[in-house]
Amino acid sequence: MNRTIQNELENIRDLGLLRSTRLISGRQAARVSCNGHDVLLLCSNNYLGLADHPALAAASIAAIERYGTSSGASRLVSGTMELHERLERAVASFKQREAALIFNSGHAANTGIIPALVGRGDVVFCDRLNHASIIDGIMLSGARLVRYPHNDCRQLASLMEKHAAGRCLIVTDGVFSMDGDIAPLVELAALKRRYGALLMVDDAHGSGVLGERGRGSAELLGVGAEIDIQMGTFGKALGSFGAYAAVSAELRDLLINRARSFIFSTSLPPSVLAASLAAVELVQTPEGDRLREQLCSNTIFFRNSLTEAGFSIPDGSAQIVPIVIGSADTTMHFSNALLAEGFFAQGIRPPTVPAGTSRLRFTLMATHTHADLADSVEHIRSVGRRLGVV
Ligand SMILES: Cc1ncc(COP(=O)(O)O)c(C=O)c1O
Repeated sequence: MNRTIQNELENIRDLGLLRSTRLISGRQAARVSCNGHDVLLLCSNNYLGLADHPALAAASIAAIERYGTSSGASRLVSGTMELHERLERAVASFKQREAALIFNSGHAANTGIIPALVGRGDVVFCDRLNHASIIDGIMLSGARLVRYPHNDCRQLASLMEKHAAGRCLIVTDGVFSMDGDIAPLVELAALKRRYGALLMVDDAHGSGVLGERGRGSAELLGVGAEIDIQMGTFGKALGSFGAYAAVSAELRDLLINRARSFIFSTSLPPSVLAASLAAVELVQTPEGDRLREQLCSNTIFFRNSLTEAGFSIPDGSAQIVPIVIGSADTTMHFSNALLAEGFFAQGIRPPTVPAGTSRLRFTLMATHTHADLADSVEHIRSVGRRLGVV
């Protein structure tokens, strides 16, 4: 084996940060087979259960039969198919924006959009706990990165006062992916107006879930019209794959011309587009309302049960519920012990979260039952006691 690679792996192992994949067999349902054992899945972003929904599967199969399996090229060559445009119209209407543009993943969206908007001489104000793909996008852009303390708009205001120069972009997760709290979008919109900045919200974890119609964190907080770029993904609550930017028609044109991850990559295939389209339609129906209600009820039940069991969990109402443990080793012991008892919750370590804040990150789904969740909390409590965490 190559020495440099071996050393690198040993360093990661010594830090207690070595990662490996776990095999899930079958569908992404509430119960899955993980490495051959039946477990309750507590770490999937399939929040509404749509990854396992017959309407999405049927739409996907029909699209393959009608359009084939690949788009064959990037969008600006010959890879723009009817389904791309239909999905973009559906997303624009869902998000109540003039236009939308599809990207191949959330990561591709963030690394494409940000460098299309800002460059050298510009400044990006970025929440400290924003997703890694946002940081990657800022790095690629060459703009100056100014990080502000998590959700702290007073600090952000003084940083903007000091550093605003050239074009300014404020960028935040809508629902923070590892913490489950929601960005203060009303205050961020006021700062954007005061400093003439652009405001971008990554609503990967809010779209489909938050707001009366599932339009996301901007709908929940009543600021949809104030957000210049509403980025969201299809691979989480929407049960499919890919991402989008909901923007003005003008901004869409700019992204088509400037976003390198859009320009230089084969576009999403028909099967994926059709599943996304079915999902965008479904979340706006009464069934979508029912799934959101179920998810909300599961979230409240799980949060309350964990609190009653003695865990201190960050305030919030979203379906992402962390138990912050601190040590990476203890976190992984906790996760492995739970898995052995039939509950799959992933341990999250640096660099995904800041050093010293390793955690178990639980995610709820509409397809969980209260009985399953009550059972899981019993086991979380007993493992937590064994490890001295509670
Ligand atoms: C907040 C956030 N943004 C972007 C992404 C990347 O999205 P994708 O998985 O579609 O690449 C993720 C998650 O994985 C995320 O949590």
